[in-house]
Amino acid sequence: MPRYKGIIKDDELKDLLVYLKVLMGFINIDDSIAMKGYLIAKNLGCFGCHGDYGLGGMPNPNSLKGYIPGWDDEHFDKLVKNDDELREWILKGKINRLKFINFVMERQVIKMPAYEGYITEDELNALIYYIKWIRDKVKSL
Ligand code: HEC
Repeated sequence: MPRYKGIIKDDELKDLLVYLKVLMGFINIDDSIAMKGYLIAKNLGCFGCHGDYGLGGMPNPNSLKGYIPGWDDEHFDKLVKNDDELREWILKGKINRLKFINFVMERQVIKMPAYEGYITEDELNALIYYIKWIRDKVKSL
């Protein structure tokens, strides 16, 4: 095993550990509403872009970060201030408050889809519950 001290950054190490824990099945969805939200996210294709469990996304040329952020991303709180904004992101694929981000997002290769008309209110609530649940879960790892 090579030594990665000094080569891997603290943030990268944290992400790697979360990834390994997911792989090893440490993330056990022991909450029935979170499980419902997880399955809805899986069926709607969220994880195809935001990564497994929504914990780390795919490359996205021309975007601010260069990849689609996971829902545990360090900048999540800046993009999503409350449940209403989370709802707006999912239904509209963007939020009104973030004019500059919208400007960048129009130019990036992969865009967040607008799910309005494709999901029920009940599914939306379960999704929001899951996103908050997985963020708390990751913080506790
Ligand atoms: C086709 C790829 C794609 C799919 C599928 C997708 N998203 Fe996104 N999502 C994005 C992109 C791109 C952004 C913009 C973030 C950026 O580029 O900084 C985004 C942003 C978000 C944000 C704002 C906070 C953040 O993490 O950046 C939330 C919340 C979100 N998506 C939730 C969802 C949910 C829930 C689903 C499934 C119902 C979903 N997304 C499906 C690509 C996708």
